[in-house]
Amino acid sequence: MFSDYQHLIDLSDYPVSWWTKVIELGEKIKNNPSDFSHACDGKIMATLFYEPSTRTQMSFQTAMIRLGGQIIGFDNPANSSVSKGETIKDTTKIVSSYADILVIRHPVAGAAKAASLTADCSVINAGDGGHLHPTQTLTDLLTLKIEKKTLSGLTIGMCGDLINGRTVHSLCKALSMFENNKFIFISTPELRMPQYIKDIIKANGSTFEEVNTLEEAIGNLDVLYMTRIQQERFSSVEEYNLQKNTYVLDRKKMMLARKDMIVLHPLPRVDEITVDVDEDSRAMYFTQAKYGVFARMALIITMLGEKKPTELLKGRIYHSVKCDNPNCITNHEGYLPKSFLSSGDETLLECEFCDERKLI
Ligand code: NCD
Repeated sequence: MFSDYQHLIDLSDYPVSWWTKVIELGEKIKNNPSDFSHACDGKIMATLFYEPSTRTQMSFQTAMIRLGGQIIGFDNPANSSVSKGETIKDTTKIVSSYADILVIRHPVAGAAKAASLTADCSVINAGDGGHLHPTQTLTDLLTLKIEKKTLSGLTIGMCGDLINGRTVHSLCKALSMFENNKFIFISTPELRMPQYIKDIIKANGSTFEEVNTLEEAIGNLDVLYMTRIQQERFSSVEEYNLQKNTYVLDRKKMMLARKDMIVLHPLPRVDEITVDVDEDSRAMYFTQAKYGVFARMALIITMLGEKKPTELLKGRIYHSVKCDNPNCITNHEGYLPKSFLSSGDETLLECEFCDERKLI
């Protein structure tokens, strides 16, 4: 199934050379922003945010305005026809006939992919549930490129809610495509990185280890990527309460880190980094959020400039098989095709919308 438009649902849908071109363009824009101030004159971007956002939404909007384009959209679906029960299919169909590019954030995994099936313009995934967040990854890669001067040979610690954090899922998939990167996952046993991400890391030839404390890892890191415990993705407050406050990066722990380690965080921060760390020159999270505008400017220019059709679904449709993930969009919007990929082994299927695996 093909679409006439180019979409960004998952960075893995593109070769690494495409991402590096976007990042290089992001660096150029950072150095000479005024050269790009008319790059999107006359174009309209729609931001459909079904979930709260500060940085992602505003940096997309800022990016489009800085490129000379204009913006429409909603940040509270309660004020749109979504509150009357409109499906993603219908909302997308209509909005994509108003706009040239559509940016969607949704609490359900696979929602951006679902939107791309019916959109009459390019769709960008700005976060789909606990699944993926490719434009945060472009921001992270641009930050690493500028601040560490490389995307290879890095030891990256990822700390916090690794099971629910979509930013770390997308970032692992991306960084494992570059040579000699090593991951250290710092989390409680309950919040470990999902198996499918660990399998991708291994298949890409990178290595990882899992530890329980920040103290045992921090001294070996080039990059520490902190994340918030994602309260909204827990099934009960009790379960969240058991996990919160486990990892707190403070000045004392920063003393154990290397002089050239940098600290990233997609933000928002809750309490996992104490405010006194902000004064440390290795704290790079506010700069990272600033670079998000340049990364998104580069992405918008690229997507509006290229006119390559996208292959939407590569798998096989199984009419009688249901995805086991209750937070998969195929279990929320019944008209969607139940499309699964199988990697040789016909008994192990992977949902094309949310990556959940099931044995049949
Ligand atoms: C992240 C997100 O929404 O996934 N924030 C962001 O986009 N900058 C991280 C988070 O919410 O914890």
